[in-house]
Amino acid sequence: MKKYIEELREKIKKYSDYYYTNSESLISDVEFDRLLVELKELEEKYPEYKSVESPTEVVGATNLRDTKFQKVTHKKPMLSLSNSYNEGDISDFIERVKKNLAEEKGIEYALELKLDGLSLSIQYENGRLVRAVTRGDGAIGEDVTENILEIESIPKVLKESVSLEIRGEVVLPISKFEELNKRRLEAGEEVFANPRNAASGTLRQLDSKIIKERGLDAYFYFLVDAQNYGVKTHSESIDYLAKLGIKTTGVCEVLKDSSELIKRIEYWGEKRESLDYETDGMVIKVNEIELWEKLGNTTKSPRWAIAFKFPAKQVTTKILGVTWQVGRTGKITPVAELEEVELSGSRVKRASLHNYQEIERKDIRVGDSVFIEKAAEIIPQVVKSVRELRDGSEMIISEPTTCPICNTPVERESGQVDIKCPNLTCPGKIEGELIYFVSRDAMNIAGFGSKIVENMLKLGFIQNIVDIYELKNHREDLEKLEKMGKKSVDNLLNAIENSKTREYSKVLCALGIPFIGKTSAKLLAQASGNIDRLMEMSVEDLTQIEGVGDKMAQAVYDFFRDEEKIRLIAGLKSHGICFEQEVVEELPQEERVFTGKTFLFTGTLKNFTRNEIKEEIEKLGGKNLSAVSKNLDYLIVGEKAGSKLKKAQELGTVKIISEEEFMEICGKK
Ligand code: IVH
Repeated sequence: MKKYIEELREKIKKYSDYYYTNSESLISDVEFDRLLVELKELEEKYPEYKSVESPTEVVGATNLRDTKFQKVTHKKPMLSLSNSYNEGDISDFIERVKKNLAEEKGIEYALELKLDGLSLSIQYENGRLVRAVTRGDGAIGEDVTENILEIESIPKVLKESVSLEIRGEVVLPISKFEELNKRRLEAGEEVFANPRNAASGTLRQLDSKIIKERGLDAYFYFLVDAQNYGVKTHSESIDYLAKLGIKTTGVCEVLKDSSELIKRIEYWGEKRESLDYETDGMVIKVNEIELWEKLGNTTKSPRWAIAFKFPAKQVTTKILGVTWQVGRTGKITPVAELEEVELSGSRVKRASLHNYQEIERKDIRVGDSVFIEKAAEIIPQVVKSVRELRDGSEMIISEPTTCPICNTPVERESGQVDIKCPNLTCPGKIEGELIYFVSRDAMNIAGFGSKIVENMLKLGFIQNIVDIYELKNHREDLEKLEKMGKKSVDNLLNAIENSKTREYSKVLCALGIPFIGKTSAKLLAQASGNIDRLMEMSVEDLTQIEGVGDKMAQAVYDFFRDEEKIRLIAGLKSHGICFEQEVVEELPQEERVFTGKTFLFTGTLKNFTRNEIKEEIEKLGGKNLSAVSKNLDYLIVGEKAGSKLKKAQELGTVKIISEEEFMEICGKK
């Protein structure tokens, strides 16, 4: 055990030192925290193997030997924060604070964003910036004054001639980070895994010009010895910083108990996606500064504050292999098979590698440790590989020359990065078409997932989209299948029957015409009225439709000249699938009771789907808004209403109604 603990300690030190000397993490924060927690638990269990030099006892860098900058001892150590991850942890913190301050009542808390950058301490003397120091190991940091002078948002002279020390976070705005990575990729340079690594790498550049170029920014959240400046609370000290011209995030909410804190944390958990800087959580601080001394600090962190960490969007793992997938258009794309990890609350085993060019540019190999993240897309992406952790056994990935499913030699259209399987009857492609046909934006057949499609194909029950509507003839065979049973077969067959009522535009979308998604399918449906007319349209007719470009028009035209497609459409027709645009009769003006009124709904509704309620509102002349604002007239509140309700209440101008009240108004009850 002793050996294991020592090895773990060494490993953590290696990662931590690498980060502080090279401004780059070799593993994700989550992985790092996991190792640290493991070490801490072991040290508690086996106190005989504890060490004062353990990373569990030391804040930040353990190795400043190799620094390029002047070392400076902080006047007051720069502490870290202990972390919390759920509501229970927050309540525990609040209880602990209350218990430690037995005599105090009505304690207030300041809630702030936790910026994900690198911490910095700045000293001003008589209103002039004299020195800026990084956190380093918490006791000793690096003098980065020269570089800091290049950050435009940091005032070199304050609005008052005071002497003080402030602490905050240097960040690289997300927009600048994306620009920077794009430039690096184009120049064949290694990309940064995330804005924090990029900020750190930039700040610790010896050439200070680069700082201005890349657009570093900084926000401040702490005034050292604030009580000496006539303020009593943390929130007042933040106002004071702002008054001096120091940039703060503007978010410092004073709240009273854990339920208020939890609500606002939830609110910011959503809202943070729209900010131009990364936040990895929130920080809760006891607001009254006098109480800080009473609560005191541990060796690493104050007892009057705690960080709440949002679920990580980025983690590190290993690439075990690469699978080349054939999509419905024949496009062949690489997918990384990963050592399973947890990411934003789900287990992840695969991540997209986009295309071969991306693999080459990012130099990603099988066996590599990689950063993966969930961005706006639901499918996780491989961000970058960590070269420093290679041991020579990694394997270069090569691009296939034949289709991985049907072995037909692949083709590449000129100027395109993707390779394609040109075989129209490639089983991979057909599977893709079927998966797309049953998917949500298309025929939306509930319970018909990609696994079932795969199975049905393998068993020969379906070969094309028309066969789906003949599955009912295989009822008995289906019931015999593993994991299917009578009930699920019933559900599946019902869902298939129900899909016959899908509107014409959804059916058009489901056909999978190249370049035609759900929005353009709507345009085609409206303009053509029915499929026969659409099939007759010339390329010119098609380009006349607003929103349909040359490429789309040609694709639609070609699609309907393909005999196989014509046969499939006839098959679908014979099963009663809808190929005609429903004529929605407009209500007479006097019945359009919502004319001129705006609506928004929040939470789960009992009687409508999201689309149904929107359609109902529009039918009655109302307009749907996407967010709470001064322009909103009605907020319809369902179960488990979230931040929109709170915001509407705060505004005070919005009429808040229940789903039942809404139904009464529109005469549905
Ligand atoms: S307060 C003693 N407030 O998070 C007070 N820290 O995990 C310590 N951080 O070292 C800091 N946003 O680098 C504080 N609003 C905020 C913060 C914040 C980000 C960073 C800071 C700190 C680390 C702790």
